[in-house]
Amino acid sequence: MNILTPPVSPPRDGRIVILTGAGISKESGLETFRDAGGIWSKVRLEDVATPEAFARDPERCHAFYNMRRARHGAADIQPNAAHHALVKLEAQWPGEVLVVTQNVDTLHDRAGSKNLIHMHGTYNQARCNRCEHVIPNTGDLSTSDVCTACGEAGGMRPNVVWFGEMPMEMARIYDALSDCALFLSIGTSGNVYPAAGFVAVVRKHAAAHTAELNLEPSAGATLFAEAHYGPATETVPAYVEGLLQSL
Ligand code: APR
Repeated sequence: MNILTPPVSPPRDGRIVILTGAGISKESGLETFRDAGGIWSKVRLEDVATPEAFARDPERCHAFYNMRRARHGAADIQPNAAHHALVKLEAQWPGEVLVVTQNVDTLHDRAGSKNLIHMHGTYNQARCNRCEHVIPNTGDLSTSDVCTACGEAGGMRPNVVWFGEMPMEMARIYDALSDCALFLSIGTSGNVYPAAGFVAVVRKHAAAHTAELNLEPSAGATLFAEAHYGPATETVPAYVEGLLQSL
């Protein structure tokens, strides 16, 4: 096992906030969005990932998300060493470890992360656009689905955050960012706000160390005090070992 020793060891009771993006799930077999050949090079996000797209052509949105939900549920898609390393950190770090993921896949959940926020929602829930009722959902959605709460048809949608919508649990996230000892950003290109701005929030409000673990420098790379570039299945377990050895 490789070990990356952080140049600054957070206090042992310090809170660690970890932002993750599509890159952490890449080696589990899921596509990222903005890498060459990524999802947004094949589909226009304006056609499938905005409230306007859903209003204009709900069948098309459903087809896109049904395909992706089915892919995520395939037997070969499993949590990888990076997801598992974050579970180990949560179990062994004396302070709080909070994972804030932009990913709508459930690989952190399946690995066993407990203190986890899905700021962009998750595929495995559906929400009624009419009354906001949320239900667990692992199957396909269609325009004929009826909401079990309000009885209306046509409004059931994946409980994910589309462009132009507010991410979830932002108050809790900003509270944690403002009072953390270490902020780690893993597998995200730093193109989508508000997540891309978290490092700036930490720099302004918390006396925290910041580190980026990514395949390549993100759009916000210069804002981090420390960076390690390589596949998440290598850098994340190595970084977690370094943190645990600092105890
Ligand atoms: N290990 C680590 N990082 C990786 C790996 C890997 N194996 N493979 C790719 N990456 C990096 C890429 O270099 C890139 O910087 O992961 C990042 C993925 O970036 P994006 O595709 O832009 O994904 P993300 O940052 O999560 O996107 C944010 O945009 O479309 C929306 O809602 C969607 O949540 C998503 C948001």
